[in-house]
Amino acid sequence: MGMRDRWLHQFGHPSGLRGRAVGRLLDRMHRRVYGGALECLDLASHHDVLEIGFGGGVGLGVLGECLREGTGTLTGIDISHEMVRHNTKRFASDVQSGKLHLSIADVADLPFPDDHFDRAVAVNTVYYWPVPAKGLAEVGRVLKPEALFLIAVGERKNGKSMRLSIPGHTAYSEADLTALFDEAGYDDIASCRVPTRPGWNGLFVYGRNPKR
Ligand SMILES: C[S@@+](CC[C@H](N)C(=O)[O-])C[C@H]1O[C@@H](n2cnc3c(N)ncnc32)[C@H](O)[C@@H]1O
Repeated sequence: MGMRDRWLHQFGHPSGLRGRAVGRLLDRMHRRVYGGALECLDLASHHDVLEIGFGGGVGLGVLGECLREGTGTLTGIDISHEMVRHNTKRFASDVQSGKLHLSIADVADLPFPDDHFDRAVAVNTVYYWPVPAKGLAEVGRVLKPEALFLIAVGERKNGKSMRLSIPGHTAYSEADLTALFDEAGYDDIASCRVPTRPGWNGLFVYGRNPKR
């Protein structure tokens, strides 16, 4: 793998020193994406929220602030040991108070009981899931009936999907994500776009877990 690919690979699984640098970069690039996600999520401070693939942790801060005044909790999972270790330190007081739970896990195999969360968020991570349908089914299992799951990806202002030419990265359009939610049985599937940085929008597709 060349130098460029070694850095790009870090976006899908940050590790070591490079991973920490990539985490800081992701935080700078993606803060506004989380602002957009909040517009769609109808989040309340009593909600128990799951963030999948939190990376550098900017979203843990943004989501955590929304829950601060209420009884809600935030749970984050990531396959990256480095990101879990880094954010456990960064948000030590929230972890100690029980407001925030962080663990190493894969979206395809979540260590949580059925019907547990009110909201789930996956920002800029679906690109790296080897079998996204498994992720959507597994998130559906841990969400309460009628709870919302939101997936965010980057999209160029001209409508082109975010695409990195590295192994293991898959680009997703609005139609691709809508089909994934539909095939996984979610209801009320909707989407919106929010400008995030010059030349780019955040594309948000979300759906409601069906009643069981
Ligand atoms: C590009 S980063 C995005 C981080 C953050 N959400 C943001 O927008 O800045 C992708 C993150 O997803 C994580 N990830 C990749 N595949 C995953 C999987 N199968 N399950 C859970 N996390 C995953 C990576 O380790 C990485 O931290």
